Amino acid sequence: MAPLLLLFFIFFASSSPLTHSRTRPLKTTMLDVASSLQKTTRNGPTSYSLKTQPSESTLSLQLLSRASIQKHQSYTNNYKLFTLSLLERDSARVKVIETRLDLALKRCRNGTCLYEVSYGDGSFTVGEFATETITLGSVSVPNVAIGCGHNNEGLFVGAAGLLGLGGGALSFPAQLNATSFSYCLVDRDSDHVSTLEFHSALSHYAVTAPLRRNKAMNTFYYVGLTGIGVGGEVLPIPEASFEVDSTGAGGVIVDSGTAVTRLKEEVYDVLRDAFLSGTKGLQRANGVALFDTCYDLSSKSSVEVPTVSFHFPGGRELPLPAKNYLIPVDSVGTFCFAFAPTTSSLSIIGNVQQQGTRVGFDVANWVVGFSVDSC
Ligand SMILES: *[C@@H]1O[C@H](CO)[C@@H](O)[C@H](O)[C@H]1NC(C)=O
Ligand SMILES: *[C@@H]1O[C@H](CO)[C@@H](O)[C@H](O)[C@H]1NC(C)=O
Repeated sequence: MAPLLLLFFIFFASSSPLTHSRTRPLKTTMLDVASSLQKTTRNGPTSYSLKTQPSESTLSLQLLSRASIQKHQSYTNNYKLFTLSLLERDSARVKVIETRLDLALKRCRNGTCLYEVSYGDGSFTVGEFATETITLGSVSVPNVAIGCGHNNEGLFVGAAGLLGLGGGALSFPAQLNATSFSYCLVDRDSDHVSTLEFHSALSHYAVTAPLRRNKAMNTFYYVGLTGIGVGGEVLPIPEASFEVDSTGAGGVIVDSGTAVTRLKEEVYDVLRDAFLSGTKGLQRANGVALFDTCYDLSSKSSVEVPTVSFHFPGGRELPLPAKNYLIPVDSVGTFCFAFAPTTSSLSIIGNVQQQGTRVGFDVANWVVGFSVDSC
């Protein structure tokens, strides 16, 4: 399941934030179109399996792409079909996350406790709740609470199990008594392995942000997002748009399982309009699935696009690599702006935006850190 998420939300006061006359040049980031396209001819991993690799003090695990353990024959050589199926599943996941939040909020009101059997991507497992000794490489952990699934539906194919990394008491890091853990997911079209580490301190170079708690939903990692920037300018979005409200709704979570970042509609519109105004020179293409902002880059080998960045308290800024927000949706040069609006109050920072970035959770201090290019 692995619910790790951040959120943000926004309102806007004025429209078209980038249309006023600027005093400094637009900050841009280079997208290597040729390199992104070349990778679409291979099957991209969308989920990960664990392989252990014990080391000295840090417990380090390798994450293998699903494609490497089981080939999806039907998608071979059809990157668009592959992308569409990925996006469809992603929408199902977001729906389930929203339903779970609803359930949790109602549960609080009813004063009763519901047992969860579904995962964020629509998969579910039903079985017995048990304790077991879990061995990862040379490390054995006794009495770990696990679900022994008798009826498993969804995306369990090819994997022996699922490791919960959420913020609740039954998550694996909590049962390990880990004070920190981190993961680095390689680009979805990469052949390289991703890694997951426990007892893994934040890098000094990490861009850090405070985690926030939502009593109604302790499994989610809510992040203190203060703003979003395009082309070097912070968009005019009230910070309140990113915060959890008194009913437990709203906020921004960091999720390793949702692919595409979801933003409240009014926030997304401001972001999309700013990005569009900074990419007027690029040829537009029709929207694809949940993406409404796509480009035909078939004649380019690289393009400069406005830098998109997340802003956190204390003036901290996380500029995203261009390939984390302009992604190929087929093998012939159609790229889409990889953010999407949601009608839910909950915003989600997804794994497309986290690719190639080590995302570390210092659960002892309740801080999240992002180190770009550190897989
Ligand atoms: C919570 O209360 C509402 C309204 O009374 C009810 O419809 C719902 O079934 C209850 N949920 C649970 C889990 O008891
Ligand atoms: C975690 O801490 C609890 C409470 O101190 C202890 O019972 C448990 O054995 C610890 N687990 C591990 C894996 O160290």
